[in-house]
Amino acid sequence: MKKLAAGNWKMNGNTAALAEVQALLAAHPAPACDMLLCPPATLVAQMAAQAAGSALAVGGQDCHPKTSGAHTGDISAAMLADAGASYVILGHSERRADHGETDALVRAKAEAAIAAGLIAIVCLGETEGQRDAGDTLAVIGAQLDGSVPETATAVTLVIAYEPVWAIGTGRTPTLAQIAEVHAFLRVRLLARIGAEARGVRLLYGGSVKPSNATEIFAVPDVDGALVGGASLKAADFGAIVAALA
Ligand code: 13P
Repeated sequence: MKKLAAGNWKMNGNTAALAEVQALLAAHPAPACDMLLCPPATLVAQMAAQAAGSALAVGGQDCHPKTSGAHTGDISAAMLADAGASYVILGHSERRADHGETDALVRAKAEAAIAAGLIAIVCLGETEGQRDAGDTLAVIGAQLDGSVPETATAVTLVIAYEPVWAIGTGRTPTLAQIAEVHAFLRVRLLARIGAEARGVRLLYGGSVKPSNATEIFAVPDVDGALVGGASLKAADFGAIVAALA
């Protein structure tokens, strides 16, 4: 399995930010892991053109479950693919919170993404209240069962475990807590999609930085990272990419 360093730019970046991509490609022309950046939709086509022929893949941050139609403001998976994307992040906790996305909707989006030839990165994670209540594994198990299409494979699916309370806060779970959730995810995914689950990359996300990447990547069943803030700067994201060798 090739590990994956994925960056989520969220609602950050304009054309000037593409200079960071140039710097990243110059510093890491042939990384040992797969390398992905998911910019805002406005930059997907430009970044994909910039990354053509390089080791960098480009992805979207959301897609609509339908292929086309009267859905003002939305973008389909086929449109992302046409713009040069090969991945799409789905069910990020910010979309679940800001847009009321349910597990069923995330699953429909994942099915649409896979049908369009994209790799779906399905995000899961508990809130701080859920962790404090001892509900972490129950919450994550239900999200996985509800959000992951049964037909997903090791090629078409990536899972990202992102505790909501660790996103953008500088706080991270203990390595033991990450290990517990990732081991649980592997077993739960085996039950959902069968033996293909062994090859599905399980990413950790939430305040990953150059200073903590190496220890997080040493945790069993952590197959990469989904990085927010630290993916905006080539130097920081590059250091995380290098830590995933
Ligand atoms: P931060 O790395 O900024 O905590 O964000 C994580 C995240 O939400 C990536 O999708």
